[in-house]
Amino acid sequence: MDHSFPLEPIELASQDELQHLQLQRLQQTLQHAYAHSPVYRQKFTKHGVHPADCKQLSDLQHFPYTTKEDLRNHYPFGMLAVPREQVRRIHASSGTTGKPTVVAYTAADLEVWATVMARSIRAAGARPGELVHISYGYGLFTGGLGAHYGAEKLGLTVVPFGGGQTEKQVQLILDFQPQIIMVTPSYMLALADELAKQAGSAKGSSLRLGILGAEPWTERLRSTIETYTGIQAMDIYGLSEIIGPGVACECAETQDGPTIWEDHFYPEIIHPHTLQVLPDGCFGELVFTSLTKQALPIIRYRTRDLSQLLPGSARTMRRMAKITGRSDDMMIVRGVNVFPSQIEELILQHPKLTPYYLCILSTDGHLDTLTVAIEVSAGCAPHDPEVEKASESLKHQVKTYIGTSIQVEVRPPGSIERSLGKAKRVLDLRSKN
Ligand code: DLL
Repeated sequence: MDHSFPLEPIELASQDELQHLQLQRLQQTLQHAYAHSPVYRQKFTKHGVHPADCKQLSDLQHFPYTTKEDLRNHYPFGMLAVPREQVRRIHASSGTTGKPTVVAYTAADLEVWATVMARSIRAAGARPGELVHISYGYGLFTGGLGAHYGAEKLGLTVVPFGGGQTEKQVQLILDFQPQIIMVTPSYMLALADELAKQAGSAKGSSLRLGILGAEPWTERLRSTIETYTGIQAMDIYGLSEIIGPGVACECAETQDGPTIWEDHFYPEIIHPHTLQVLPDGCFGELVFTSLTKQALPIIRYRTRDLSQLLPGSARTMRRMAKITGRSDDMMIVRGVNVFPSQIEELILQHPKLTPYYLCILSTDGHLDTLTVAIEVSAGCAPHDPEVEKASESLKHQVKTYIGTSIQVEVRPPGSIERSLGKAKRVLDLRSKN
């Protein structure tokens, strides 16, 4: 097995070299969008800016934002900056309502995507010759195929399983002996339970590394997964509108938040209400501009993901703090903002409770009520005195640390629906009128 697979030269570049390349690519991207996408030309004109106004990286802040609504309004192909015939692949992310968001790739875009994914998988600690089991869904979702082509490019042996059929997946993991798994953190838990069932323990398998992402997960869930399965769990981030998985990935050397592949995706953090650009280190909404995309260049895309930009550690390129939540997932309970990840952090402090939980919002008269349904650990029952103690303590912690009262409903093992991909953490039963 080759353990010395080299980094790409740009991963070793100085900050000056990186910024020089970013500016050059940013100027080209703005030109390309203006020249070939009527939607962007109109947006720029309405905003009173022209690509020639971008003389330094900070000039990007004068350009307008792009949102999911822009993509929806021009569904399916209205934002393309190349003729449709030059598009080699389409993906789509399903929204909760209405039409999906469609994204498109030229042959060159697919090559960039495979490159940043190979870079991510290598950064996470995989090496050519290893075997990877992919449980991200294949199809219109970018997870499966994104991981697939990156892993092949890096020289891994790929098992393209996709999501679902948990029993069979685990059988193949036991038979094929992969070292690496690529999967959502929530589905990793379901696979680990099945491993424990089939092999007697979730720990004894051949797996040593998980490249986990596609949904928010806390540091505490990371340690739960690592302790439960014995794998090293690395965070990979991405979104369809920017390219798919591989926008950023954690480096094995430091495991301290995903490094953003800034030579292809230029990040900013903005205040989600004032929309002002915030300095590095401030907490806010992540915004990305693609620097090399042809089919669907994307300028200042508002991700709705909340994070921070951090200085580089294992690489020169900046990191992003682990995502604590999406502004869309934020629950407002009696005036207090609550993210499922905050609840998760507290649940996992109790060994009798599990990471299988659901936040249920309902109304009691005129008041919003948040009930957190949580599964109890295997071998315990919801009314065991120790479990009741844990549930009381959780209520108290949520009140103290988050500032809102909740109901806790402890359920027996296996009663919360397992995710086969992205977990659903919030069930909103409040009437919308
Ligand atoms: O989830 C791409 C992906 C696939 C990333 C596989 C990583 C692994 P979308 O379906 O467009 O694309 O969803 C993107 O998922 O805006 C975040 O809210 C969330 N997300 C993705 N990765 C992470 C992560 C894929 N590591 C949306 N941590 C994003 C937290 C994540 N949230």
